[in-house]
Amino acid sequence: MTSLVTASAGAGAPAAQPEPRLVSSRLIYFSSVSGNTHRFVMKLGLDAERIPLHPHDRPLRATEPFVLVVPTYGGTGGAGSVPKQVIRFLNDPQNRSLIRGVISAGNTNFGDNFCAAGDIVAVKCKVPHLYRFELMGTAEDVERVKQGLDAFWTRLSQNQK
Ligand SMILES: Cc1cc2nc3c(=O)[nH]c(=O)nc-3n(C[C@H](O)[C@H](O)[C@H](O)COP(=O)(O)O)c2cc1C
Repeated sequence: MTSLVTASAGAGAPAAQPEPRLVSSRLIYFSSVSGNTHRFVMKLGLDAERIPLHPHDRPLRATEPFVLVVPTYGGTGGAGSVPKQVIRFLNDPQNRSLIRGVISAGNTNFGDNFCAAGDIVAVKCKVPHLYRFELMGTAEDVERVKQGLDAFWTRLSQNQK
C-alpha cells in the first residue's frame, strides 16, 4: 500500500513553495514590469519592500505593521482588480494581520474603476484606503503621501498607548 507521504510527494505533486522572506518595512508594494508604482515609491525615499512578480520567487512575510501600495489591474466591472501577486501576499495570515492601510494606483481613463484595487483591499482587510494616485504620481502626491504616512504612523502609535 502506498503511504500518504509517498503519495503526496509523487509525480504530479505541486512544487514545494519557497520559504517566505521576512521583511520589516512599513511600506510594502507591488509593481508590474511597467514599474509606475515602483517609481512612485522610490520618490518617497522610504524603506520599502516590493512583492515579487513571479510565482516561483520567494514570497514576502511581514513582521511589522505596514501600509500596502497596490496598482489596479481591472477586468470588466472591477473583477480581478487586485493583482494576483497581491492576493497571494494577502492570503498569508500574518500579512493580513499586519496590514494597517492601503494606498492605490491607477489611471483615470478607467473611470469608475479608478484605483478600485484599493477599495477592494480596504473592504477585505478592514483597513482605511488612505490615498489614490495616478500612474507614477505627481510631486504633490509624493509630498502628501510622505506627510500622510508620517501622521498615520504617529496617530497609530499614540492609539496603542
Ligand atoms: C491591463 C490593464 C488594466 C488596468 N486596469 C485599471 C483599472 O481597472 N483601474 C485603474 O485605475 N487603472 C487600471 N490600469 C492602470 C494601472 O493601474 C496603472 O498603469 C498603474 O500605474 C500600473 O502600475 P505598475 O506599472 O506599477 O504596475 C490598468 C492597466 C493595465 C495595463
